[in-house]
Amino acid sequence: KLAPLIAPSILSADLARLGEEVENVLAAGADIVHFDVMDNHYVPNLTFGPTICEALRKYGVTAPIDVHLMVEPVDELAAMFAKAGATYITFHPEATRHVDRSLQAIKAAGCKAGLVFNPATPLDVLKYVMDKVDMVLLMSVNPGFGGQSFIPAALTKLAEARALIDAYVAEHPGREIRLEIDGGVKTDNIAAIAAAGADTFVAGSAIFGAKDYAATISAMKAAIAA
Ligand code: DX5
Ligand code: ZN
Repeated sequence: KLAPLIAPSILSADLARLGEEVENVLAAGADIVHFDVMDNHYVPNLTFGPTICEALRKYGVTAPIDVHLMVEPVDELAAMFAKAGATYITFHPEATRHVDRSLQAIKAAGCKAGLVFNPATPLDVLKYVMDKVDMVLLMSVNPGFGGQSFIPAALTKLAEARALIDAYVAEHPGREIRLEIDGGVKTDNIAAIAAAGADTFVAGSAIFGAKDYAATISAMKAAIAA
C-alpha cells in the first residue's frame, strides 16, 4: 500500500493570498496541492486556469500539484497545465470524446494522468486504460463546490476501485496507481475512508476552514494511521 498523502484543495484557501496559503499548508504537513479547475460548462462554477498554476511554480512551490480538471473538452487545457507545471492531471471521462487519447496526451506531455468518477458514474472504462492511469479519483460529492457533505456510497465504490487497482498492480509489479477521494473529507470520517481503500485524501474546507492547519493535518494523518 502506498504512503497516504494529504491534498488540501486550494478552492477553500484565501485566494487573495494564494501563494502564502499554499506555502503555509505545505509547511503544516500537506503532501500535495489539489488544484480544482472549473469552467462553468462541465460544472456550474468557475475557478482558475494554467496561469495560476504557473504562478505557484514561480512563487517557489515545488510540491506536486494535482490538477483536477472539471472542464469540457479536456485536451487543450490539459496541455496548457502540463506546460504550467502540473504533476498530476486528472479529468472526467465523460468530458472528453476519446478517453484513451486524452490519457496518452497527458503522459506524453510528461505528467501523471488520472480519471475522475462522479458519485453516480460507474468505473467501467477504467479496466480498458489501467496501463495509462496513475491516479483514480473518486468524487464523494457532486463536483462544483467545496463544503458539501460526503456521500456515503463512495465508501463501497472505494472498495471496488481498491480491488481493481490491487488486482492490476499484482500483475504489474512496480506500477503505482493512487486512489484519491475528493469531497466532504473531514477529520472524523477520514479513518473510514482510509479503511475503504483510499490513499490520497483531498480536503478543502476541513483544512482551510480550520484555524490551525498543522493540527488538522496531523489529526487526519493520525486517524489514517490508527
Ligand atoms: C469539488 C472539488 C473539491 C472540493 C472539496 O468539486 O473537486 O476538491 O474543493 O472541498 P471539500 O473538502 O470542502 O468538500
Ligand atoms: Zn477536486
